[in-house]
Amino acid sequence: MGAMTTAHDSAFVLACLGKPVPHTPVWFMRQAGRSLPEYRKVRAGIPMLESCRRPELVAEITLQPVRRYGVDAAILYSDIVVPVAAAGVDLDIVPGTGPVVAEPVHTEADVARIRQLTPDDVSYVDQAVRLLVAELGATPLIGFAGAPFTLASYLVEGGPSRTHAKTKAMMYGQPDVWHALCTRLADITLEFLRVQIAAGVSAVQLFDSWAGALSEADYRRYVLPHSSRVLQKLQGVPRIHFGVGTAELLTAMGEAGADVVGVDWRTPLDVATARIGAGKAVQGNLDPCLMFAPWPVVETEVRRVLAEGRAAPGHVFNLGHGVLPETDPDMLARVVDLVHSTVAQP
Ligand code: CP3
Repeated sequence: MGAMTTAHDSAFVLACLGKPVPHTPVWFMRQAGRSLPEYRKVRAGIPMLESCRRPELVAEITLQPVRRYGVDAAILYSDIVVPVAAAGVDLDIVPGTGPVVAEPVHTEADVARIRQLTPDDVSYVDQAVRLLVAELGATPLIGFAGAPFTLASYLVEGGPSRTHAKTKAMMYGQPDVWHALCTRLADITLEFLRVQIAAGVSAVQLFDSWAGALSEADYRRYVLPHSSRVLQKLQGVPRIHFGVGTAELLTAMGEAGADVVGVDWRTPLDVATARIGAGKAVQGNLDPCLMFAPWPVVETEVRRVLAEGRAAPGHVFNLGHGVLPETDPDMLARVVDLVHSTVAQP
């Protein structure tokens, strides 16, 4: 029978499941966004959160990097705070800063005011995913959400934070409030991901971008149970679990229940694989700053990442964190071509 590739048996999905692949699949966190002139053009004059609520615009922005780079997966254009805003939390995404929350969460009463998300709250996400799945054909679409710790940090701090001091103060000083907050955020995240899975995404990524701020003991005690509940309740599509600065957390993250663990540039993928434990694929992990280096340096580093990725049963090539806004798109295009032209399995 002629093998017609579908999103379901794409190189990306196969690599997530640790199955043989025709080539190492590649996509980039933040592949859509300010590094692309075509993004800046369609976003002009439209606030970030507003742009996430227009399905046709979401579809266009999601498709831009697929057209330009020929990456192996698209990632839904949205933001980790979209479901929290949809559940009634007053917040905005401020250009150059990030999410800013009008009334930060400090008490049990503040937590009780955050209501559970319903599918109707995010019907625009359902619509955008359906448009995209039809448009993308054999290219898989990745859905995503923020993990409880990273979302909680924005809600407790009121905005981005270097130390996460208020978040940790709540964790250590008011553990009951902390766990109530994370339970509610995990419920919101679960509902948000279920909507995306029902609408047809081929995989989901749970972003715990700031989990690296925690020791392993604190991560296991205050965060892992909540992220684990989210990951284990999701069925039917590969699950990717990502954080930054997680070298000491990789073993615990490997236990959380994902199929793929995302790794930043600080830990070589073969070292990471040993920490994560048997049977899990890895995603990563070129330093995003390498995109500002001369091509021969980039080429050497891409080949190194590919070689180290062979230690895992599956490897999805990516940067170790998101594309920086100043990145030259041509550099990413060359990385895609190099990854695709390199033989995947020895
Ligand atoms: O291409 C993609 O990866 C999909 C789109 C995506 C966005 N946000 C769009 C966005 C994804 C996956 C996210 C997730 C997200 N949002 C995370 C986790 C990933 C990570 O980078 O660790 C976090 C921590 C956020 C919170 C957030 N939203 C930040 C820190 C920022 C940047 C603020 C700034 O202006 O520098 C945002 C805004 C945001 N989210 C932009 C985009 C394209 C930039 C907004 C703009 O164009 O003005």
